[in-house]
Amino acid sequence: MLKLAIVSLVCTALLISILFRMSNNSILCRAPVLVGPGILPDTNSTKDDDIMSQQLKVDAVIHYATSRVIPQQTLDEIKVSFDVLKSLTPCNFLVFGLGHDSFMWASINPRGTTLFLEEDPKWVRAVIKDAPFLRTNTVNYRTKLSEAEKLIEHYHKEPDCSAKKSFLRGNRKCKLALDMLSNEVYDKEWDMIMIDGPKGYFDKAPGRMSAIYSAAVMARNRKGSGVTHIFLHDVDRNVEKVYAELFLCRKNLVNSVGRLWHFEIPPAPNVTNDFC
Ligand SMILES: C[S@@+](CC[C@H](N)C(=O)[O-])C[C@H]1O[C@@H](n2cnc3c(N)ncnc32)[C@H](O)[C@@H]1O
Repeated sequence: MLKLAIVSLVCTALLISILFRMSNNSILCRAPVLVGPGILPDTNSTKDDDIMSQQLKVDAVIHYATSRVIPQQTLDEIKVSFDVLKSLTPCNFLVFGLGHDSFMWASINPRGTTLFLEEDPKWVRAVIKDAPFLRTNTVNYRTKLSEAEKLIEHYHKEPDCSAKKSFLRGNRKCKLALDMLSNEVYDKEWDMIMIDGPKGYFDKAPGRMSAIYSAAVMARNRKGSGVTHIFLHDVDRNVEKVYAELFLCRKNLVNSVGRLWHFEIPPAPNVTNDFC
């Protein structure tokens, strides 16, 4: 048991240092960022930003090197999202589920926005106590895992769920729409969305149905150029698989590693009732 704990600890520290060593080349040594057409940011704030983002990375390495808990995704799975985040940072990154990996994601995107949506207020308080700089919103889900099948029937019957309508804010009628998120979540265009929450492994848990549906709506409504990268974890489970096929679509699946699927969703004209 002790041997296993030591091996886990060493592996985690190694994983974080490998990821950060890889990121050193491209994130820490970036060329100065343009803040507007042809405008360079003032040198002092760039220096301050550099110091702060370096400090965040150092803090993250120390945090993981001394932690007894390892994130639930494997190294190979983490690497898929890590590579995309590294290529997009600074970017808008929305994460469903707060966990032991949250510090890592935020520290890879220090000049972007990384926002965590978490259902359990107690768990938010516990995580924030050690990492007060993490940005979190607590979400009240309207669904239960046990309703997953019925909610598919509801989706087919309820006009406000259709891809043609594709809206979340104030969408009371469609039970799959996350209709009471903060304005920031609705108003920002999210370049990357990770779905590794809410809990979906017992009947009364919220399940990931509305996270998957709402992420698909956000991605389809993107106005900016490029695709939205969506990462879905736990695709060995039936609900995740079925909802991904229904809303994220097999044609958009670009990578699959372990229990993680990576989709690239292009903005979509809302002309058909179906998502795929
Ligand atoms: C499958 S976990 C994934 C979290 C994260 N991606 C990770 O790898 O640690 C999803 C949910 O489990 C819950 N959770 C995870 N770790 C927890 C803990 N140590 N105590 C209480 N709840 C936890 C949170 O509600 C979280 O949103």
